[in-house]
Amino acid sequence: MDFQLTEEQLAVQAAARDFAQNELWAGVIERDEHQKFPAEQIKKMGELGFMGMMVSPEYGGGGMDTVSYVLAMEEISKVDASCSVIMSVNNSLVCWGLEKYGTEEQKQKYLTKLATGEIIGAFALSEPEAGSDATSQSTTAEDKGDHYLLNGTKNWITNGSSASVYLVIAQTDPEKKHRGINALIVERDTPGFVIGPKENKLGIRGSDTHSLMFTDVKVPKENRIGEDGFGFKFAMQVLAGGRIGIAAQALGIASGAYELSLKYSKERKAFGVPISQHQAIQFKLADMATNIDAARLLCLQAAHDKDGHHDYAKSGAMAKLFASKTAMDTAVEAVQIHGGYGFVKEFHVERMMRDAKITQIYEGTSEIQKIVISREILK
Ligand code: CAA
Ligand code: FAD
Repeated sequence: MDFQLTEEQLAVQAAARDFAQNELWAGVIERDEHQKFPAEQIKKMGELGFMGMMVSPEYGGGGMDTVSYVLAMEEISKVDASCSVIMSVNNSLVCWGLEKYGTEEQKQKYLTKLATGEIIGAFALSEPEAGSDATSQSTTAEDKGDHYLLNGTKNWITNGSSASVYLVIAQTDPEKKHRGINALIVERDTPGFVIGPKENKLGIRGSDTHSLMFTDVKVPKENRIGEDGFGFKFAMQVLAGGRIGIAAQALGIASGAYELSLKYSKERKAFGVPISQHQAIQFKLADMATNIDAARLLCLQAAHDKDGHHDYAKSGAMAKLFASKTAMDTAVEAVQIHGGYGFVKEFHVERMMRDAKITQIYEGTSEIQKIVISREILK
């Protein structure tokens, strides 16, 4: 693996850093407090090319590699993990899935707008009774000849009310179990499609998470992605890459909390010296820096595997497992280093601690990552 970043990758990293520092810092506390969706910020991210980074220029994307995507995700997540989850779902679940498996008509109709950020997308796999156990789908897509009839409820859907296009996973033939599942493109205004109330969350409060209800929603057959019965494999393939994005999000939260802690520890005095001169603080910083470097290497390894067309299910799961633990551990210690100031909103680290937790839950919990990793090791 080549650890040197190319000039192009460094330029993407610098552009994402500038945008995050100059455009996201200012309102991040307010957006978190009021659960305000960052509509303006996401629009700008689209204009800067961050919403369809890996999509081919032919469809309006940036044609960039996964390494560049990881670098940008880290920088955005250092400041605002709500913006980065919106970006991550659009890039690595929706755009990537459509470009890889969609028909030319689907790409022209949906991908070209999603890649530029003109519209955003959502990915709907989870249900009230099917999260980790994703093959147990209750949402049904009954085959009616020229269309599917969609019925059921999806839970916890990121971009739930802000998306225009939803990739919905549903069971067509229960006898075939996971091989009877389909992935359908559902447009927001389709009759029978109702968006539930916004969830009031612990973290990533700027992102909008909703349940989705479908009652006799007619979805044309041409909106199915891939062959009949490909839906579960589609979801697993998309998530294997998505987990690299969430790993990079976790890495960014950890780096953000670490950078604030390093700075604060040099400024804050206790017992006549900056707290950075106390060995207990130095050791916390040493642990943070070491774990962050290890998490970054795992993220880059997984991105490198994906770019090199090697298998990345295991490396992506390892990156997510380790980076999400690093995010949680680092953010908790960041609050500790800030003392009482860490417990109030103005110092940012309490938000980072709340945001970090979700990285151990969505796109497969840490327990699920261990299942994926151990199956790969043992097969
Ligand atoms: N690529 C392609 N196919 C794959 C695959 C992969 N990486 N992983 C599994 N599959 C296929 C298997 O080959 C199998 O198909 P065949 O029988 O035809 O070979 C099929 O999927 C079922 O696999 P398993 O038998 O391994 O299924 P399982 O029931 O044991 O569960 C699991 C597997 C890994 C636990 C899976 O259910 C899972 O990933 N669960 C977590 C769900 C998840 O991550 N949800 C995230 C929702 S999106 C989200 O969260 C977005 C956000 O927050 C921002
Ligand atoms: P469960 O599956 O019920 O798990 C509960 C606990 O049991 C967990 O600790 C889990 O690790 C453990 N567990 C379950 N099975 C096993 C096992 N076999 N071995 C060991 N431990 C196990 N989903 C989408 O489809 N699209 C989205 O955009 C999306 N965005 C989300 C945004 C937010 C803010 C949240 C909170 C969730 C989002 N999700 C989304 C759903 C998310 O992917 C699920 O919450 C997650 O996969 C876990 O499912 P669950 O909540 O049903 O927990």
